[in-house]
Amino acid sequence: MGHGIAEVAAISGMEVKLIDVSWDILNRAKERMTDSLKRLYERGVIKDSPDSIMSLIEMSVSYDVAKSVDFAIEAVPEILDLKRKVFNELDKVVPKESILATNTSSIPISDVAETTSRKQKVIGMHFFNPPPLMKLVEVIPSKYTSEETVDFTVDLSKKMGKTPVRLRVEVPGFVSNRIFLRLLQEACREVEAGEATIEEVDSTARNKLNLPMGIFELADYVGLDVVVDLWKVIVERGASDVKCSSFKRKVEAKELGVKTGKGFYTYP
Ligand code: CAA
Repeated sequence: MGHGIAEVAAISGMEVKLIDVSWDILNRAKERMTDSLKRLYERGVIKDSPDSIMSLIEMSVSYDVAKSVDFAIEAVPEILDLKRKVFNELDKVVPKESILATNTSSIPISDVAETTSRKQKVIGMHFFNPPPLMKLVEVIPSKYTSEETVDFTVDLSKKMGKTPVRLRVEVPGFVSNRIFLRLLQEACREVEAGEATIEEVDSTARNKLNLPMGIFELADYVGLDVVVDLWKVIVERGASDVKCSSFKRKVEAKELGVKTGKGFYTYP
């Protein structure tokens, strides 16, 4: 999601430093941002040319470029040790007065904050895929986060054209994924009980709940490995569980959704 968030910040006129572990990944990110910006430009959603927006984004494989940033957003995979390692590095390089945000969808913000020397300046800032189109941003304080940090992050989300939801407390799955989990659980239960097919559940979600995608379709889009991790974290931290094995079986078969060409549906 990192390149999507970088794109959104640049669209809002901000200078962006995009850091990743290899130039291969960064070049792919560049292609995706350019493609997305072209589509937004052609549809009249943005007025500035894709080239002028891309010129605001500097890419690097070194943390050094972060030494002048006002705000850093981490979007590495959902592995606590990896997040802590990245936060440790950012804490060394990013100016002491700047905020460090994590785009995590499940890892407790406090666990990440504890690895830094600025716990009150660490916050959750959770975007949704695809970031250029999805309006919601969840802003999640940890038990250490200062009010000033929360206010700044809410304002920044608005400057990025988003609609922030400010959580009062840090709960697993925040607001959106707790609801998403319930939808997934019930959809999975209905299918496994033979009450309805995947297609029928998805048709109902689209045509009754007015969701832009069906529930299984959305799970494929998010990535079934991501879904299973989310499910696990939210349940481990106290939410009730429903016995459904379809998601886990798909992940074991490496059918992860859109990104592998097959999940509950098949993709060209
Ligand atoms: N950048 C720019 N434009 C894009 C784009 C992108 N990344 N993705 C799609 N578009 C454009 C398409 O080109 C298309 O433009 P035209 O109408 O000119 O052809 C337009 O947007 C609509 O796209 P599609 O026709 O492909 O399909 P759609 O109408 O279904 O829209 C969608 C696609 C916006 C993804 C929509 O299906 C949607 O909102 N789905 C739900 C997404 C969602 O819930 N995301 C959250 C997932 S959870 C998460 O991310 C976080 C977590 O914690 C797991």
